[in-house]
Amino acid sequence: MGRVFCVGGNWKCNGTKASIAALCNDLQGDAVDAASCEVVCFPPFIYGTYARELLREDFQMGVQNCWIGKGGAFTGEISADMIVDVGFGWACLGHSERRHLPQIKESDETIATKTKYALDAGLKVMFCIGELLEEREAGLTNSVNERQLKALADIISDWSNVVIAYEPVWAIGTGKVATPDQAQETHAAIRDWLAKAVSTEVAESTRILYGGSVSASNCVELAKKPDIDGFLVGGASLKKDFLTIVDSYK
Ligand code: G3H
Repeated sequence: MGRVFCVGGNWKCNGTKASIAALCNDLQGDAVDAASCEVVCFPPFIYGTYARELLREDFQMGVQNCWIGKGGAFTGEISADMIVDVGFGWACLGHSERRHLPQIKESDETIATKTKYALDAGLKVMFCIGELLEEREAGLTNSVNERQLKALADIISDWSNVVIAYEPVWAIGTGKVATPDQAQETHAAIRDWLAKAVSTEVAESTRILYGGSVSASNCVELAKKPDIDGFLVGGASLKKDFLTIVDSYK
């Protein structure tokens, strides 16, 4: 079976009960063909259950972070086991905001370790990678992506519940989207690396999403590229435009 198109909506640290109710209402529409497209929304933790009650049933739900391991005396944290227990199927891990914000600064190893724990607990993981602007300008795009992926490849063998989200940091929330050719070139390099470092089967079957200023107007051209298997959407996932982006699988 080919790779099923996948679209994530990362709501980040946005929303109120009122705005989430309005968004869930705006996102009503014809059911998505599950055999062709998978959609996952990532609300802030505190609104998760509320959003689940209001969001259309064919859109899955996930969390934007989780604790690195089993629960216990870790004040303020939420474990992957708890996320599974309340019925959420996904975690979005390694987002560039968690890798690079000075108040957070998660390392490659931390992200890989929490990803392994989340996978073992039964979650699917949207594993985010991507380079900073200065890294792209220094010609380091592929080596940065490979370093971030290698931390995970070193500790997992089963990639069936991993979806990679390539998000060039310079394109996130800036309106500066990677061109379809730029994105395709990097996605193809990621797939080549998976083939060499993991296996050809994993390279062929693992979905690689693009994220960074995806919009209703640029999604169709990006979605035509052979190695772009969907999107991780930030700003536009808070608007009705998200439905247009989901529809780009057609
Ligand atoms: O997780 C989503 C990405 O950070 C992209 O955000 O679509 O607002 O650029 P954006």
